[in-house]
Amino acid sequence: MKDLLNKLKNGIEKFEGSTEESIEKFRVDYVGKKSKINKLFEDFKKLSVDEKKKYGKPINDLKTLAKERLISLSQKSKKKTATRSNKIDFTLPPQEDTIGALHPLRIVRNKIIKIFRDIGFSIEEGPEIEKDWYNFTALNFPKNHPAREMQDTFFISKDPDMVLRTHTSNVQIRLMEKEKPPMRVIIPGRVYRNETVSAKSHCFFHQVEGLYVDKDVSFKDLKDTLYYFAREMFGEKTKVRFRPSYFPFTEPSAEMDISWKNGWLEILGSGLVDPNVLKNCNIDPNEYSGFAFGMGIERIAMLKYGIEDLRLFSENDKRFLKQFRGVH
Ligand code: DAH
Repeated sequence: MKDLLNKLKNGIEKFEGSTEESIEKFRVDYVGKKSKINKLFEDFKKLSVDEKKKYGKPINDLKTLAKERLISLSQKSKKKTATRSNKIDFTLPPQEDTIGALHPLRIVRNKIIKIFRDIGFSIEEGPEIEKDWYNFTALNFPKNHPAREMQDTFFISKDPDMVLRTHTSNVQIRLMEKEKPPMRVIIPGRVYRNETVSAKSHCFFHQVEGLYVDKDVSFKDLKDTLYYFAREMFGEKTKVRFRPSYFPFTEPSAEMDISWKNGWLEILGSGLVDPNVLKNCNIDPNEYSGFAFGMGIERIAMLKYGIEDLRLFSENDKRFLKQFRGVH
């Protein structure tokens, strides 16, 4: 017994080791339930009364020694890892900086909003999941009218018909139902069409709608306003041209092109609000008139920044997005 005690005491005192594994081994060997010291306590029970008197204290002392040694070993190792992790290695390459950028669609949206805000337009928004009435019927697209074919639609439910809105024009109706003229608003938002995704078309995109209703609003007001917009957006020298077109909710209707490189590019649809649409919203067309327009944000961003693939806007590729750092 005496030899065994000495041997264990030696082992404890001479133990060297600072790694987590070696300290764990020390714990298992000397302090844990199945340790050599616990085994000593088992053997102790079998000793004679005299021997018990003799070895009781040394065994207990050994146990205390092992425990204290374990504590000091693990404290030392903790200190070591702490100093190691506090050290900064200045020779490492810097971490990639993580400054973000505004999304190009957000940049263009903000620009459009600012341009119209400066001339007194306010901002409105509306739902993307919409009743047939607001997306189509009240805008003068009767049921089964071929004009509905212009916009390939995602239907959410039938009877009552609910759609993912195909344009932001739904908010025109919501607003005119709710408020009395004069009103001068722009309406940015996301819209959906059942189109195959490609470089040129997508199943969701963004529009900004405009609506101005008051007494004596004329086609001249529409042209002046959109000409001002084109110059603010694309530069002082920009020219515009209006081509007759068709939309169910405007009469007359026109598409606006801007001068671009050596030709013309279509950027929006517009027109005078159809009297039927005013009537659908309980506004008297004999007293009030208005103009409306709608443009695609992606299209304008593609022109301004020379982006050739519509899918880039929604792929979240950092190599694309970080090119807009610092652009507002
Ligand atoms: N809603 C039309 C579209 O998505 C765009 C449009 C054309 C909106 C003429 C208007 C407008 O407000 O007057 O194709």
